[in-house]
Amino acid sequence: MSDQQHVYPVSDAIAQRAWADRETYQAMYQHSLDDPESFWKEQAKRLEWITPPTRIKNTSFSRDNVDIRWFEDGELNVAANCLDRHLETRGDQTAIIWEGDDPNEAKHVTYRELYERTNQLANALKELGIGKGDTVTLYMPMIPEAAIAMLACARIGAVHSVVFGGFSPDAVAQRVIGADSRLVITADESVRGGKHVPLKDNVDAALTRKGTEVCQHVMVVKRTGGDIDWQQGRDLWFHEAVDKQSTECPAEAMNAEDPLFILYTSGSTGAPKGLKHTTGGYLTYAAMTHQYVFDYQEGDIYWCTADVGWVTGHSYIVYGPLANGATTLMFEGVPSYPTHGRLGEVVDKHKVNILYTAPTAVRALMAHGDKVMETSSRESLRLLGSVGEPINPEAWEWFHRVIGNGRCPLVDTWWQTETGGIMIAPLPGATDLKPGSATKPFFGIKPALVDNEGQELEGATEGNLVILDSWPGQARSIWGDHERFVQTYFSTYDGMYFTGDGCRRDEDGYYWITGRVDDVLNVSGHRMGTAEIESSLVAHTAVAEAAVVGFPHDIKGQGIYIYVTLNDGIEPSDELKKELSLWVRKDIGPIASPDVIQWAPGLPKTRSGKIMRRILRKIAANECDGLGDTSTLADPSVVDELIEHRANK
Ligand code: WT7
Repeated sequence: MSDQQHVYPVSDAIAQRAWADRETYQAMYQHSLDDPESFWKEQAKRLEWITPPTRIKNTSFSRDNVDIRWFEDGELNVAANCLDRHLETRGDQTAIIWEGDDPNEAKHVTYRELYERTNQLANALKELGIGKGDTVTLYMPMIPEAAIAMLACARIGAVHSVVFGGFSPDAVAQRVIGADSRLVITADESVRGGKHVPLKDNVDAALTRKGTEVCQHVMVVKRTGGDIDWQQGRDLWFHEAVDKQSTECPAEAMNAEDPLFILYTSGSTGAPKGLKHTTGGYLTYAAMTHQYVFDYQEGDIYWCTADVGWVTGHSYIVYGPLANGATTLMFEGVPSYPTHGRLGEVVDKHKVNILYTAPTAVRALMAHGDKVMETSSRESLRLLGSVGEPINPEAWEWFHRVIGNGRCPLVDTWWQTETGGIMIAPLPGATDLKPGSATKPFFGIKPALVDNEGQELEGATEGNLVILDSWPGQARSIWGDHERFVQTYFSTYDGMYFTGDGCRRDEDGYYWITGRVDDVLNVSGHRMGTAEIESSLVAHTAVAEAAVVGFPHDIKGQGIYIYVTLNDGIEPSDELKKELSLWVRKDIGPIASPDVIQWAPGLPKTRSGKIMRRILRKIAANECDGLGDTSTLADPSVVDELIEHRANK
């Protein structure tokens, strides 16, 4: 089926100007596998080191000793690499184009301005006693101050932990506690799609939770001027703390393996994990992938529509582009506001050349038909990118034909919070495209497919996607819990990094990601652990038990389907469904809003009491004919009852 589809060959014109054509990709890829030491030693030179590394790769994936170090005797500063070294050649070049939620608001921030503002904030942080090794939680709108805050932390060696602005007070509290943050930087409110989100109120609420006492300061950017409460002695205005500071602040010399940031993401079990990313390898990898995958050329205007709260925003709005001296567009709003033409209009307004977005955004626009692109020409576009979930061929074709006017290569990029940067993706000048395939591994990446016993599968086949050797951008650990890091990623298949994804490889060696093989959902490109939602639900007094699964959703990719068993004596009602829905939203955040809730008098369980999610997934997807083997169920009649009362009709 998919293999017979249209193939889009590399165009000669693109191959000629690209950083890598077919031969270059082949040669460099081979080099990166044959001799990673010399390959990455050379690549590290794209950064400016205080002490250049002599020890390049020292990594072990063995489950008895998971230990990952790159460039371990090198010293550098990430902010200096993203700012200082560009001043001489591009001080007056725009570093960040900011496009507000309101189409009448935009501004350009030059490299010099970004440098000065970052230094001022860095000095303000020092005044608060924040320094090397301290952690700072950022809970911010999509405004330049978010990038400034990340860079200011990097400059003084503080570790940032960005929490997506759509998360709840409880999620903020959990992350402040997990990272031991002494400072939260936020804004009064954020603005998205014309609506105000009370970020500062959420932080206030978060900091009433037990365990958050560690946080002594809240720094607040005035974004809207909306009403907020003020706690004297704890709260301070960003502008008051920053304006008065010197625009010079020495950059701290950091070891390549010092932590740069923590970023939380959901797994199949337990609370979200704070992945620890470090300095030298991460930046080398983010910068290199940004250059090659997007074929970034001098002067290009580059727009990644992600939020800085996700790893995509870290690597491909802030660190990769700025390390490369690029102009990166930061968009505060949503692609459908004030109208569905906005995405194209922003492209025209800022003459965007490279557009990197998510399948869910493409599908949402596609649902409104080709006419949504009639308000823009998008002539400036040269390249398209996709990330976050598998892109179905229909959405791929529409993105390519309508948004890209049929003349821009489309790079589908597979990677994860854990990988730090893009792992499997085409290079525009080197890789023929197949809609729906992330295509080929990036330099230094050794993917493999294994069966459930960890046996490597050869040729055209399907299996669990693992990575056989380390690459510089990968996460080094889970903050404060290395054992969990080992357990989650390296113990399923010893000596291999397990991605949690299923994947098919075709006869051309192209990779086709099929989605998660664990209990992680991907809703509109956002990762969500079923266990998190379930534990939120069972905390409600009406709920005895809950099971959460994903089901196919036209726009979101996956929707959230919840089976709830109520406590004895509790009557099911539509009001209660609404209440539970709000409960989850409030507990985790709007991105966890349930799509479907079904009352389940009983859940299908094995005789040992394990919930059989495979069956629940089938029922949610309305594939009730193919339930497979139900003979191991403790009580098969439970299944008939659930099918009869399917909620997703
Ligand atoms: C999971 C990682 C990496 C940035 C955004 C998400 C899925 C991501 C693709 C893609 C198919 C994809 C995988 C992966 N995923 N990109 N191009 N094709 N699936 O980061 O939140 O860490 O989620 O997203 O399932 O494991 P994340």
